[in-house]
Amino acid sequence: MDIKRVFLVGFMGSGKSTLGRRLKHEMGWNFLDLDDVFEDKFQTSIKQYFADYGEESFRQAEKECLEDVIHQENLIIATGGGTPCFFDNMDVMNENGLTIYLKLSIETLISRLNSGKNVRPLVANKSGDELYQFIKEKLEEREFFYNQSKVIADAEVLGVEAFVNIIKASGDLSV
Ligand code: S3P
Repeated sequence: MDIKRVFLVGFMGSGKSTLGRRLKHEMGWNFLDLDDVFEDKFQTSIKQYFADYGEESFRQAEKECLEDVIHQENLIIATGGGTPCFFDNMDVMNENGLTIYLKLSIETLISRLNSGKNVRPLVANKSGDELYQFIKEKLEEREFFYNQSKVIADAEVLGVEAFVNIIKASGDLSV
């Protein structure tokens, strides 16, 4: 299979954007963060969009953003934590490229989200037990979708080179 795009999938704080930027550098491909695509298209922050229009509208608009970019080639896309879990987004991504789930423990996600949560409307006002419960429940619900990824990667231990090798092994790439 000749892979033309890679979708990085996983919970908020799992390092999709950081890894995506590193893969761009290593592979010489383009990189897009779907949250940035959203904010450019709608000229507002995701936090503000949630406040103005709510999550249901956000999900519809997020799907549009995915459709806007999905046919670009040699592209790495960091998806939003909820992207695979709505509509047929996961199937669409699986049909159009290599999906990789960056799997992390709840403990790691909590420590990462505690520092970057203010820009993320779903966790912005949560701390302590509330944050733990929220992540536990959402992760259980979302893993049904994340686990449909073609590759499930232990993001606790794998470095960027391992990801390049995974991608190379999955398709006829000249990287
Ligand atoms: C969301 C994750 C965010 C962003 C939005 C909703 C989610 O993206 O799309 O705040 O539902 O998990 P990141 O995973 O890049 O933080």
